[in-house]
Amino acid sequence: MEVFIFENKKELFENLAKKYVDAINKNPNIKLGLATGSTPVPLYAALIKDHQVNKTSYKDVSTFNLDEYIGLSEGHEQSYRTFMNKTFFNHIDIKLTNTHIPSGSAKDLKLEAKAYDELLKENQIDIQLLGIGTNAHIGFNEPGSDFDSETIIVDLAKETKDANVRFFSSMDEVPTKAITMGIGSILKAKKIILVATGSNKAKAIKNTIEGKVTTDVPASILQKHPNVEIYLDKDAAKLLNK
Ligand code: PGA
Repeated sequence: MEVFIFENKKELFENLAKKYVDAINKNPNIKLGLATGSTPVPLYAALIKDHQVNKTSYKDVSTFNLDEYIGLSEGHEQSYRTFMNKTFFNHIDIKLTNTHIPSGSAKDLKLEAKAYDELLKENQIDIQLLGIGTNAHIGFNEPGSDFDSETIIVDLAKETKDANVRFFSSMDEVPTKAITMGIGSILKAKKIILVATGSNKAKAIKNTIEGKVTTDVPASILQKHPNVEIYLDKDAAKLLNK
């Protein structure tokens, strides 16, 4: 694991966006694994700006998102499809047909999970972007998740629902289930970049980088992947041994 610690979010996302732009220019057919949540929003904003200014093109790029809530329609304001379209895809020249997000509104969710796995088997991801939950979840793989699993239907942990209630008008509206790439699917990416900002992620980051590899800390399995970069601001890195 390579760990990069930045003075602030601005520096972190400038560096990270440059890394993505370089990777896209080098491989215009790149397959990007993308993430939702608040953490990557400044990355998407920086990539949109770069697209407008430097004309970096996404016309041959394909994307594969980690997860989607179950129980929200695709057009729901808080669905991850809506989030990705609004936050990123609608502002670049990507073909929407090349953007993949598992459907949380499919009639047969097991079949949907299987189809997403097939898609991932045909498309090895070049760079998988990850955020991390306060409980060290990656995607929606909560503590206790199997390290080998492929795309699965999961129950959301209390910490996750508590963290996400800010996007809904009440706890009753927060979905209780999601469809997510499993940890096994995530680990198949050639390269993984995990980003964490803010002191509320400091404990999860310490356990991920310096703790033992355990299903209690889902992100700790990244210690075993050969090509992982962790981008942190000072607050998220504050508990790490110097
Ligand atoms: P956040 O979510 O970026 O909104 O903190 C990260 C995650 O839960 O993986």
